[in-house]
Amino acid sequence: MTVPADSKITFIGTGNMATALAQGLLHQGIAPHNITLASPRVGPQHPLCQQDDVRVTPDNTIAVEHADMVILAVKPQILPTVAGELRNVIQRRKPLVISLAAGIRLSTLTDWLGKNIPIVRSMPNLPVTLRAGVSGLYANPTVTSALQAQVDSLLSSVGVTLWVEREEMLDAVTAISGSGPGYIFLMQEAMEQAALHLGLDATSARLLTTQTFLGAAQMAAASTLSPADLRAQVCSPGGTTEAGISTFEQRQIRTIFRDAIHSAYQRSIELAQ
Ligand SMILES: NC(=O)c1ccc[n+]([C@@H]2O[C@H](COP(=O)([O-])OP(=O)(O)OC[C@H]3O[C@@H](n4cnc5c(N)ncnc54)[C@H](OP(=O)(O)O)[C@@H]3O)[C@@H](O)[C@H]2O)c1
Repeated sequence: MTVPADSKITFIGTGNMATALAQGLLHQGIAPHNITLASPRVGPQHPLCQQDDVRVTPDNTIAVEHADMVILAVKPQILPTVAGELRNVIQRRKPLVISLAAGIRLSTLTDWLGKNIPIVRSMPNLPVTLRAGVSGLYANPTVTSALQAQVDSLLSSVGVTLWVEREEMLDAVTAISGSGPGYIFLMQEAMEQAALHLGLDATSARLLTTQTFLGAAQMAAASTLSPADLRAQVCSPGGTTEAGISTFEQRQIRTIFRDAIHSAYQRSIELAQ
């Protein structure tokens, strides 16, 4: 089920995530006048207001007054204040609430917003800004299957979705795909430095590494083979790739990844406390 065309959708926060998701909704055919963006300093200069005539307001409460769906897209440290401000209107109207805030548990959101509100937690990642993201999702029991389908449709407009069975799994999603773009950029940085060391210029190093990551990711997405099988395909015995991979394995690359991702996972748990 897609988001109903006449749904009134409000974003609290008008930054990267709100803008990307609002663009996804517009792409799905939701009319601009059904989308409202709210933040204290927002004005007609917001790109979606200029390009698409989306509504903007500096008043969070007014923005939620007629909303069927409210997306909380502010930084986690701002959320207690914003939730306190919205509690009354949310209790009165009982819209579907989607929180993007990293590390804020459903129990905490329920304490702030009050009981019997359908709430979904979502952990998207930065490539949603290019509609190439992935979002982990978890719903509280008040979310009906019809509402769940609407949330899925919203987040699918900016990438792919993965519903987890236990809320704690969102910490694992955070450590893998939430933080993942950062790991990939680090790998690209390291490969670029190695390319410079071999005498390539910076422009060539950027071109070669970017296209290699893009091409390899597209191959993995298009193939039914596992990454291990794809790797075996590019490793001829005694060849160059095998020589490179053998150094990665000797230097314990798998242990480095496991430890790094575990650190991110632990940090996600700590931030929620
Ligand atoms: N970026 C990511 O990769 C990513 C990934 C997963 C989850 N998230 C989550 O998504 C949420 C939004 O992140 P983001 O990257 O979009 O942040 P962002 O670009 O910094 O946007 C935050 C927005 O909140 C607005 N704001 C500040 N105080 C407010 C208030 N009292 N009421 C309403 N709006 C207010 C800000 O307005 P001003 O700019 O005028 O201050 C800004 O528009 C965060 O909770 C983050 O944890 C982000």
